[in-house]
Amino acid sequence: MLPRFGTGDAPIEPLLGRTVVVFGYGNQGRAQALNLRDSCVDVRVALREGSRGAAAAHADGLACVGLHEGAALAEVAALLVPDDAMPELVQELRTGFRPGVVLLIAHGANAARGRVKAPAGGGLVCVAPAGPGVQVRERFLAGGGVTAFLALSDPADARLRSLGLAYGAAIGCARAGIYECTFAQETDVDLFGEQAVLCGGLGALLTTAFDTLVAVGYPAEMAYLECVHQVNLTARLIHEGGLEGMRDRISPAALLGDLTRGPRIAQALQPVFEEILQDIRSGAFEREQDEAASGGPAEMARLRAAARHAGLEATRRELGL
Ligand SMILES: NC(=O)c1ccc[n+]([C@@H]2O[C@H](COP(=O)([O-])OP(=O)(O)OC[C@H]3O[C@@H](n4cnc5c(N)ncnc54)[C@H](OP(=O)(O)O)[C@@H]3O)[C@@H](O)[C@H]2O)c1
Repeated sequence: MLPRFGTGDAPIEPLLGRTVVVFGYGNQGRAQALNLRDSCVDVRVALREGSRGAAAAHADGLACVGLHEGAALAEVAALLVPDDAMPELVQELRTGFRPGVVLLIAHGANAARGRVKAPAGGGLVCVAPAGPGVQVRERFLAGGGVTAFLALSDPADARLRSLGLAYGAAIGCARAGIYECTFAQETDVDLFGEQAVLCGGLGALLTTAFDTLVAVGYPAEMAYLECVHQVNLTARLIHEGGLEGMRDRISPAALLGDLTRGPRIAQALQPVFEEILQDIRSGAFEREQDEAASGGPAEMARLRAAARHAGLEATRRELGL
């Protein structure tokens, strides 16, 4: 079992009295900066010149500084900018950081790949919330939080762990549970989860089911309502009670179909999932990421256009959903 830390194990005190500078004010930057402020942490937001985030940060009542000023102020520098921009940003600010600065990241990839390293005399901590920024903020405001994974550049450094846990507590994650792992585990599992299930897998399952019905003449509206639109109902049952909780609440026909057809689907998926995981572990996916990034926004737009399912989108519009 991974070590789990809750509110009782994650006092916020190691962070109090320290200056935390949040670099970037996007999905995670805004949510985490606001949660830190509401947890009484001394927080500033560091933005590049002409940043689109500046107006939002000002409107939220947060003090903004430039990137170099932020580096000079930070005792904890939370790097909440896109992962592909992070190594260059750290390199640019490298000589401007205070001695002993702790760099905090919200996804382990740059650390696992050695693209961002702990500064000499300082540390590198990953606190990766398992949810988008809006959820990090909304759950915090509701008195809860999202779970997070914690990873440390030096797992033997108790002071670094206390600081990471304090940060996790200040953004609300300790309320839901913080689990300690390594940078590589966080990276591999995060990428695999989004490729195999949350994004790639789910999208493929829905579109393949829709296409299968439509190809033999079933109405597209029925295919959409049954195979795509309802997915949130099942997701909710699984979220609330796991697979067994879902099975307790479905009809006998649905249960029999699940128990007899599910294993056939699993058998077909297994080799594909093994290949997907192997691509992540071998670095093949990382090379693809670099290639896609070198093609700039046009390459991503091309890939996205190729994946767009016109029939499915048209059906959704026709249904007014
Ligand atoms: N998306 C999520 O909810 C989520 C969930 C878990 C973990 N994470 C992790 O959280 C981190 C941040 O992701 P995000 O989705 O929050 O990022 P994001 O919303 O794309 O970040 C945008 C912010 O970064 C700034 N920025 C972009 N490029 C920059 C550069 N070269 N120099 C300085 N600032 C720059 C932008 O400034 P401008 O306003 O000037 O454009 C903006 O304020 C990543 O490590 C990601 O893996 C994200």
